[in-house]
Amino acid sequence: MSSSGEAELLHTFKGIPFTTRSSPELLKSLDTFDAREDDVLLVSYPKSGTHWLAGVITKLYDTQVTVTSPIELGDISRLEELNKLSSKRIIPTHLDYNMLPPNFKNKKCKMIYISRNPKDTAVSMFHYYKDNPNLPTVDSWTAFFDLFLKGNVVCGSWFDHFLSWEEHEDEKNILFLFYEDMKKDLPKVVKEITLFLNLNVSDDDIQDICKKSSFSEMKNDTEKENSDPSHTVCALTSNRKLIFRKGAVGDWKNYFTPKQNIRFQEIFNEKMKLSKM
Ligand code: A3P
Repeated sequence: MSSSGEAELLHTFKGIPFTTRSSPELLKSLDTFDAREDDVLLVSYPKSGTHWLAGVITKLYDTQVTVTSPIELGDISRLEELNKLSSKRIIPTHLDYNMLPPNFKNKKCKMIYISRNPKDTAVSMFHYYKDNPNLPTVDSWTAFFDLFLKGNVVCGSWFDHFLSWEEHEDEKNILFLFYEDMKKDLPKVVKEITLFLNLNVSDDDIQDICKKSSFSEMKNDTEKENSDPSHTVCALTSNRKLIFRKGAVGDWKNYFTPKQNIRFQEIFNEKMKLSKM
């Protein structure tokens, strides 16, 4: 990674690297953010399927809802904008559980955490680093692999992020989802989401929503600009077109060398030894 790029594009807050699209003033003031009881949070580590999940969820409501920009995106004035919204808010975030504004926890807001095989997440993030002008440049997959394992990437360590949320998995207001389950049986996961959000959606409508949320449909919509390209649910990018790359499970096998796989597995086993995953 070029050190000048890193210096310009990333800054660290409470030990976690953020892009300069998240101002330190905003991050500092998150603790005082006023949550509403009916807010729904969409939480993820970057590249876990956040846009996919957001695309599905917005189609489930027949009342007016707004998928806001991520809570950690922008400068301090963004919080005012969020406060002014009169419709129900679906708020995306890549924040670690410990950095989440306490009001969301106190008010027991519903939160959906989506996770993905960290090996595929790493590969997806590698491409994101290469294509996204808001992120530092990386020299090679090998260099990125090391940074990812050390947690030296935007949003910090995948392991720390996942574990900070997994600790709260049993809380009634938190739903854990996996990208791989969505790939395997999207209608089943969508049904689970409707039950969690207390939404009454027929099986036929669920089938229809799943069709409209396929990788190819979402990619086409974005390319044809049927959706606003600047509306992203990830605080790291300003162009939605960067999101829809391959949408596959197991792409890591095309990148990891056998040695990298062993190293990843060792670190995974060590870091995740207390995890139920
Ligand atoms: P790849 O880079 O592996 O293709 P996020 O929205 O959290 O940034 O995640 C982006 C990843 O989700 C990308 O992975 C993207 O292709 C994938 N994705 C987005 N929409 C999808 C869909 N409808 N179906 C499957 N994967 C999708």
